[in-house]
Amino acid sequence: MTRAPKSAGGRFVARAVLAAVSAALLGCGDDARTRTAEERGEMLFQSAVASDAPGNVFACATCHGTTAQRRFDTGSSLLGAPNRPSFWGGTEVDYLRGLNQCRRGFMGASQDYASTDRDALDLTAYLLSSGGSVSPQPFSVVTTITNVANGDATRGESVMVAACSRCHGDADGHDRLSVRIPSLRADFQRAHATYTPAERRLIFIEKVRHGSFLGYGGDMPPYGLEAMGDTDLSDLLAYLGL
Ligand code: HEC
Ligand code: HEC
Repeated sequence: MTRAPKSAGGRFVARAVLAAVSAALLGCGDDARTRTAEERGEMLFQSAVASDAPGNVFACATCHGTTAQRRFDTGSSLLGAPNRPSFWGGTEVDYLRGLNQCRRGFMGASQDYASTDRDALDLTAYLLSSGGSVSPQPFSVVTTITNVANGDATRGESVMVAACSRCHGDADGHDRLSVRIPSLRADFQRAHATYTPAERRLIFIEKVRHGSFLGYGGDMPPYGLEAMGDTDLSDLLAYLGL
């Protein structure tokens, strides 16, 4: 994972700014005593302050819904999650470790939550506050990358909007969440200019399927088959001209 070097001083300022912003916008600060654990947990869930990393722009809500699974969210819906018997498609049995994997891997947090940390307790209180599913959620990771069929560019635009735009903005990168997130047309083409079109297509498919995992760096989340089927991916590739 590449991150800008951070000095202790810069980090302190960034934290102080984040704390002030969160206090002002989200009310996580002084009046927190008047809020319930569930309310404070919801604010943490919706905001990037759930990680102390200065460059983090992700909130839990960037990747997870709290209603029944919305397609195109890379992570499953999290209401009820603390009571599930297993996580991450059955590869993790400890809820807090499953959560910390997201904070550290995607959100760059410097330290894992301990089970007694107030933020962890409040997030958990929120996730247990109303219904949700306590069943293990499927998460089928595509390990072997192969080409997909040619798709429908018009449908592909709606796939892009529903799945990728919350981070990448439109195909040219307008309204992206952060300037360090590449645009899916020009930046991607430029970064992989030395490859043939067929190779670029496979690199793109691998990025969507693996995110920052399985040898591919970065901090983008992976898309399992439940979040994005091969047909959706075909349509998206057609829309992006890949
Ligand atoms: C960049 C995207 C991303 C962010 C940000 C993120 N997660 Fe995740 N999370 C995932 C993915 C992908 C999975 C694996 C698929 C799944 O099991 O839901 C996952 C899995 C989980 C799981 C296991 C769920 C299950 O039933 O298997 C928990 C719990 C969790 N995340 C909590 C959180 C919390 C709390 C936050 C915020 C502090 C957070 N995540 C932030 C992408 C993300
Ligand atoms: C939660 C935010 C998030 C979402 C949602 C997301 N991405 Fe990304 N993506 C990133 C970040 C951050 C990077 C740059 C760091 C990295 O490569 O992991 C990136 C990088 C990429 C790259 C560039 C890889 C390279 O080698 O240059 C591609 C391609 C890509 N994303 C495709 C997609 C597609 C397609 C979707 C929708 C299906 C999508 N992303 C959804 C955050 C996201």
